[in-house]
Amino acid sequence: MTKISPSVLAADLSNLALEVKDIENAGADMVHLDVMDGMFVTNISFGLPVIKSLRKNSNMIFDVHLMIEKPERYAMRFIDAGADILTFHLEACEDAMSLISEIRAQGVMAGISIKPGTPAEEVYPYLEECDMVLVMTVEPGYGGQALIPETLEKVTKIKAEVEKRGLATMIQVDGGINEDNACRAIEAGADILVAGSSVFGKTDRRAAIEALRG
Ligand code: DX5
Ligand code: ZN
Repeated sequence: MTKISPSVLAADLSNLALEVKDIENAGADMVHLDVMDGMFVTNISFGLPVIKSLRKNSNMIFDVHLMIEKPERYAMRFIDAGADILTFHLEACEDAMSLISEIRAQGVMAGISIKPGTPAEEVYPYLEECDMVLVMTVEPGYGGQALIPETLEKVTKIKAEVEKRGLATMIQVDGGINEDNACRAIEAGADILVAGSSVFGKTDRRAAIEALRG
């Protein structure tokens, strides 16, 4: 079944632990934590101390999405802070293969992400090595944007390549996912849907999560 990873960017961050508990009770499979540095993207969100602090309050799978320049500088610290899946941007990293190995050597799943303008083929050299590919379906930096339809064509391509090679590499989509387009993302080959506004923006989070599963 398709997994749902709500992004806390759309949550009430003044009540973060309660918000995360709420989506856990509502059936979310993991929680998506967006780290932005004001360099790789223009926005700044939150970082190490918030994740470390939340770790003490939650046993959920922490799906950490690093939107930062030179993620290799901080990867080990995000693992220490409690990441279970650590995703970084291919565009931000000098040696993605080494970073994947470093992350996996710590027993943490490694994800590699591409922005809408980066061709699908750029992740092909890493498909054997990484656990997950995150295909951004909006320009990274802000929640609440509309999904860019062409990005789903990249999901289809990467899924076909994963299957051709007989791999178990998961595909995650992130940005503008809602109950109207979730089915299309799943049909294209997404295994994990990230959803901020369409989960945290709703009062009935259980219904919101179920509506996305298709
Ligand atoms: C965007 C982030 C997303 C974002 C998703 O840069 O990576 O995770 O929070 O939010 P929605 O679902 O509202 O587009
Ligand atoms: Zn994200």
